[in-house]
Amino acid sequence: MRKPLVMGNWKLNGSKQMALDLVTGLKKELTGVEGCDIAIAPPVVYLDYVQKLLSDSKIILGAQNVDTHLSGAYTGDISAAMLKETGVTHVIIGHSERRTYHKESDQFIAQKFGILKENNLVPVLCIGETEAENEAGQTEAVCAKQIDAIIDLLGVKAFNNAVIAYEPIWAIGTGKSATPAQAQAVHKFIRDHIAKLDANVAQQVIIQYGGSVNDKNAAELFTQPDIDGALVGGASLKADAFAVIVKAAA
Ligand code: G3H
Repeated sequence: MRKPLVMGNWKLNGSKQMALDLVTGLKKELTGVEGCDIAIAPPVVYLDYVQKLLSDSKIILGAQNVDTHLSGAYTGDISAAMLKETGVTHVIIGHSERRTYHKESDQFIAQKFGILKENNLVPVLCIGETEAENEAGQTEAVCAKQIDAIIDLLGVKAFNNAVIAYEPIWAIGTGKSATPAQAQAVHKFIRDHIAKLDANVAQQVIIQYGGSVNDKNAAELFTQPDIDGALVGGASLKADAFAVIVKAAA
């Protein structure tokens, strides 16, 4: 039985005041919620501050990125060890915004996956197709290629204690979520694809849906058997909306 994970990705949003208000609100709204793991990923400069705010809470601290190196002359980068020392346990990698704006390749993302596993951090691997790829019927091929890059470098067992976030790019920040049936079909494809190599790994891997999840559509998405929670952008910046999403998954 998989425990769903709802993770808030704040992206490049926030301030210390916003972090204080949001975390205070979440702690109040989510006390006693047991059936769902909850994580938030603030911008890296606020991690230490948010970690302290979360010290009396079960909310997990996440990060939005990691470098492939542990130390050295890599100006501006942050290592897995640094994130771990700050209290982070889950790290988003391969987000479409990084694939697009920072030209991150499948192979580079696989290296990030590897450094996270070596440091006992949980990768939250984002995958998903563009609108054009979707319309061309390439959704499954794109998702398979993005998953296979990890398997080729690290083997299928790397997906033990890992998270995949299926985020169709056309649904991110657009208000146009995939329907529950559309998302379920792709989630099932992803799980079956991994199961071809290792059924046990496939059975336990958390597959979140991401893309315009909000307090209105979350509950129906979570009725689907292969949707194990959500990676939430915009709606994670409001405590009340995020709490509704978490409770729908719990
Ligand atoms: O990481 C989160 C996703 O990109 C979804 O963002 O909920 O604002 O569509 P969104």
